[in-house]
Amino acid sequence: QELQLNLEQIEKGGYEHFMLKEIHEQPKAITDTFRGRLLRDEAIIKMGGIEDNMKKFLNANRIIIVACGTSWHAGLVAEYIFEDLARIPVEVEYASEFRYRNPVITENDVLIAISQSGETADTLAAIKMAKSKGAFVFGVCNVVGSSIARESDAGAYTHAGPEIGVASTKAFTTQITVLSLIALRLARAKGTISSSDFRRYLLEMEMIPEKVEKALESDAHIQEVSEIYKDAANFLYLGRGYNFPVALEGALKLKEISYIHAEGYPAAEMKHGPIALIDENMPIVVIATKAEHYDKVISNIQEIKSRKGKIIGVITEGDTIVRDLADHVIEVPDTIEALSPLLTTIPLQLLSYHIAVMLDKNVDQPRNLAKSVTVE
Ligand code: G6P
Repeated sequence: QELQLNLEQIEKGGYEHFMLKEIHEQPKAITDTFRGRLLRDEAIIKMGGIEDNMKKFLNANRIIIVACGTSWHAGLVAEYIFEDLARIPVEVEYASEFRYRNPVITENDVLIAISQSGETADTLAAIKMAKSKGAFVFGVCNVVGSSIARESDAGAYTHAGPEIGVASTKAFTTQITVLSLIALRLARAKGTISSSDFRRYLLEMEMIPEKVEKALESDAHIQEVSEIYKDAANFLYLGRGYNFPVALEGALKLKEISYIHAEGYPAAEMKHGPIALIDENMPIVVIATKAEHYDKVISNIQEIKSRKGKIIGVITEGDTIVRDLADHVIEVPDTIEALSPLLTTIPLQLLSYHIAVMLDKNVDQPRNLAKSVTVE
């Protein structure tokens, strides 16, 4: 048993938990995901599974994304980027709902299944059903040779490396990386992105690992913030546009490992419900990076402030407007809005990690949860 323990220590590579190790592995994991696919000098994106099936994608009426849990959140981010850049209609579905709902599926649909483990029962059943109705199924998996990878007509691996912590971290950011590359590749093929914008995205994507590294430097400050709010009974997470799914994911991370109730919401929906919960005991994490709807998020922050809610803002480096309004801010480097989830996710992972550690919870193996859910 001692040997077992030592082995685990070695595997954790000096980190206290697998989750923390995996959070810190993200710069490398993201690089591994775009390596060999993003060819900046030639200004191309090369992905076998896409090239070989380009017609299917270009002729698709729509793309249906199915997934569960964190992978479903990656699907939501993908919806924004596919529609924004490639102008292909996208629907994102919980695999468990989709498979039982008698959905309308035709041969002109492309179904993308996203799964870290490649073994999630509902996701696997959803793709089998879509295949039987003639849809083209594309898998985005992390585990090589997994059931979903094998069952798909084609696919792209995330290359995140093994993820041991039950709460998904690097799998999420690498899923977003792969899906962004696919959206960009399709946008180029369809001509919905200019060559100069395309180049700009490639350059920016290459900078992401370095920027994630920079975002990780806020760790000590995030620990201080965690200490202040670790005993809160509820948290609210707000974000808009590309960062709405990040708010959902931030809330999920906190729930999963600290057992604190948390809700993620689109910032503008706050007034239709969650605003009733806001008082001086409610910490609210607002993703307020510079983006198209920045001004609107600022008004949301003002509304929270006037109800005495405590604001933890995730902001773009150097921003002073939110800094002056919020109780605490956590900076992330500036980037193109479509790629910002890759950065804004980082402080939310660290926040939930530190709170869970401070509450003495089992971070890597939270109660009642499993890394892969192979039963219904
Ligand atoms: C479980 C895990 C989550 C994961 C979800 C989907 O609930 O605890 O971390 O996001 O399953 O798993 P998949 O392997 O399909 O991405």
